[in-house]
Amino acid sequence: MSDADELLRIEGIRKTFPGVVALDGVDFSLRRGEVHVLLGENGAGKSTLIKMLSGAYTPDAGRILVGGEETRIQSAQDSERLRIATIYQEFNLVPDLTVAENIFLGRQPRRFGVIDRKRMEADAEVLLKRVGVHVSPRARVRELGIARLQMVEIAKALSLDARVLIMDEPTAVLTSEEVEKLFAIVRTLREDGVGIVFITHHLEEIAALGDRVTVMRDGKSVGQVPASTPEDELVRLMVGRSIEQQYPRERADRGTALLTVEGLTRDGVFHDVGFEVHAGEVVGIAGLVGAGRTEVVRAVFGADPYDKGSVKVSGAPIAKYDVNAAMTAGIGLVPEDRKGQGLVLDASVEENLGLVTLRSATRAGLVDLKGQREAAERIAGQLGVRMAGLGQHVRTLSGGNQQKVVIGKWLLADTKVLILDEPTRGIDVGAKVEIYQLINELTAAGAAVLMISSDLPEVLGMSDRVLVMAQGRIAGELSADEATQDAVMALAVSNPSTDKEASRGH
Ligand SMILES: Nc1ncnc2c1ncn2[C@@H]1O[C@H](COP(=O)(O)OP(=O)(O)OP(=O)(O)O)[C@@H](O)[C@H]1O
Ligand SMILES: [Mg+2]
Repeated sequence: MSDADELLRIEGIRKTFPGVVALDGVDFSLRRGEVHVLLGENGAGKSTLIKMLSGAYTPDAGRILVGGEETRIQSAQDSERLRIATIYQEFNLVPDLTVAENIFLGRQPRRFGVIDRKRMEADAEVLLKRVGVHVSPRARVRELGIARLQMVEIAKALSLDARVLIMDEPTAVLTSEEVEKLFAIVRTLREDGVGIVFITHHLEEIAALGDRVTVMRDGKSVGQVPASTPEDELVRLMVGRSIEQQYPRERADRGTALLTVEGLTRDGVFHDVGFEVHAGEVVGIAGLVGAGRTEVVRAVFGADPYDKGSVKVSGAPIAKYDVNAAMTAGIGLVPEDRKGQGLVLDASVEENLGLVTLRSATRAGLVDLKGQREAAERIAGQLGVRMAGLGQHVRTLSGGNQQKVVIGKWLLADTKVLILDEPTRGIDVGAKVEIYQLINELTAAGAAVLMISSDLPEVLGMSDRVLVMAQGRIAGELSADEATQDAVMALAVSNPSTDKEASRGH
């Protein structure tokens, strides 16, 4: 059978790693001008599959056909030659080079043997304009936020004049505004005939952008359906069961204030931030990106300094800018940037899970290794961490499973006040529910949970109270009953400093 519109076909692909069958007979095809979504649980094999197309891995068995011809893709150069461009889950840019240098890395235009900077920067400018991002070709990549990094990656793909564009969870780190922008670019590329492979855990994006969906489970392709398939049907295909309740919050009895923050101020960043989180409570912090949410919780955790104000746990003040003091007092933080701050990538799952508990697991100066292993075993099981064993290096876990390890580490640490910054980013729908259930268990046991999330349904679904931040201030507080999407958004776009001035005048 020959299909002129078929760009790519994968048949019976298999790939094993020591102790893991990552791919076990995957079929997939991609047409010109379509967005083909790859859907599957954390560890199902999505990233591994696309790495077969980018030349990062070669299959153990199976065939890859490009334009109807069987092809071997053994290196990034092979992939590039076939005009396949990949935007990885983990970015691939070089932080110390400029934007233009990154876009043309290894292919810089030359003049008389010397890199033609002028031309390179002018060409980069054109590409950046095409993706609609305002960034100088001369800016260093290290200075860019994550959304702009993404856009630079896309500009780079455009420069390769890709026929096939692969995007591995491109929206995981974007705000809704940025997602819209990305979608507009993807739609234009589709109209130009590019075939796009799109990986996402956000089901609502599938109908909005996709044409076809291939569902993967345990390294196998288990079905191909149109993108218009109802969400609950997609979930059933993906996790093999349906999910009754997406936000299973069980309210616990509210106890005494465990975390008290008063007048917290860091000049130019956040101002006069005050709130309490009680035992048994989940308090959500909503707000637009840049509202200062991460900055506030990092200060509370002692990871960043502040200029004024205080942080108390059970009424006792905590020294500022002192992570050890915060941890000793029982505060834990699951950071937003798991790779940078949450994990030791070349250590095992067990070691990573034990990072915070090591001290409490020490008996008479000896580490209770057996106790630590049992605890690690239990939490990894509860969170459904997909791994070859506790000895597997965290670097080789799938993205979502790495996130589960960061959360598990703090769940094990006997934390009184757990701060979660974007806890379910990159987590599949089934595993999300597991994490929510663990939050329920924590609060039922008397802990306090403070949760930042840009996923509004999640904040609304899991919080007992919602604080909304805008421009570095708390713009308002809503009870679970009052907290609707509209009420939160109204506060999130308000201007709390001038509003306050105004009300003071009356
Ligand atoms: N280099 C490697 N060594 C060992 N195991 C690996 C390696 N790369 C991937 N794996 C394993 O292969 C399986 C599939 O991982 P993959 O990253 O493809 O999942 P995924 O579907 O992309 O998940 P996620 O949604 O969490 O990103 C996982 O069990 C993972 O631990
Ligand atoms: Mg992945």
